Amino acid sequence: MRNTKKNITNKVRLSLFVLLFLFSALLIVADKGVAAENVNGRKPLWNEINISRIRDIPVDGNIEFFFCADLHIPFDDRGIVKKIVRQANSRKPDFVLLGGDLVQMGLPNYYTTLKKVLRKFRVPVISAIGNHDTSFSDYSDQRQWKKFFGNTFFYFDAGPARFIFLNNANFDLKDAQLGFLENALKTDLQKFIIMHRPVGYVNKLYITPLKGGSERFRELIEKAGVTAVMTGHEHHYGSYEVDGIKYIVSGGAGGRLNTNTKNNYHHYIIGNVGKDTFSFQVITL
Ligand SMILES: [Fe+2]
Repeated sequence: MRNTKKNITNKVRLSLFVLLFLFSALLIVADKGVAAENVNGRKPLWNEINISRIRDIPVDGNIEFFFCADLHIPFDDRGIVKKIVRQANSRKPDFVLLGGDLVQMGLPNYYTTLKKVLRKFRVPVISAIGNHDTSFSDYSDQRQWKKFFGNTFFYFDAGPARFIFLNNANFDLKDAQLGFLENALKTDLQKFIIMHRPVGYVNKLYITPLKGGSERFRELIEKAGVTAVMTGHEHHYGSYEVDGIKYIVSGGAGGRLNTNTKNNYHHYIIGNVGKDTFSFQVITL
């Protein structure tokens, strides 16, 4: 009899503990909502959940992140993605930023494989959408992405910086995103843009860069004094400076490498941001 009572008490305690844990998790997710497209009426998805997992960093603190793009799962070359996961889990940056083309094509089974890979990261991972993450026959068909990752343009703040994610998978930045960008740039924090396609004005060899909205984009980021624009799409490494803004093209996280540009090697970027500083290094794989 005494044992039965004890078992019941233990079960009640365990249930209360589980309830408390779930309630706390919900509060954490709700606390760090991000400005973006409509998120009302649905549960948080991958990017939102991962943003909520980023540690609280003071505005005068320092952050370290990894950035890479073009994994092209399941056709990533030479186990590059595995190496990046291993190195991130060992070094433990504050978060990993991905610049799109996570899958070769937006098929449900490719997304299933992608989810297994992403869940191996033991640090938060936040991603932009690439043209290969769509149905591919139609870059505007982004249903698979939205089902798993959520919104396709949004921002989050971490310590001294704001990270603004845009969606140019279908070539363009239309008025809705340019308006969102203009508002998102209104901050004293350092500003970083993450999107998939690079801008064409940094390298004439880029044959499918951002097209519509490119000029307005350039005006907005120059006026706001953006620190860096980080993109992928071109499967190589490139670094440029235009209008005093740094442009980093890092498309070397597993997809087949370009042959028409230089610096065509697999790699990722480690970025460090302080209150008024930004530095980065290229890690070749
Ligand atoms: Fe790619």
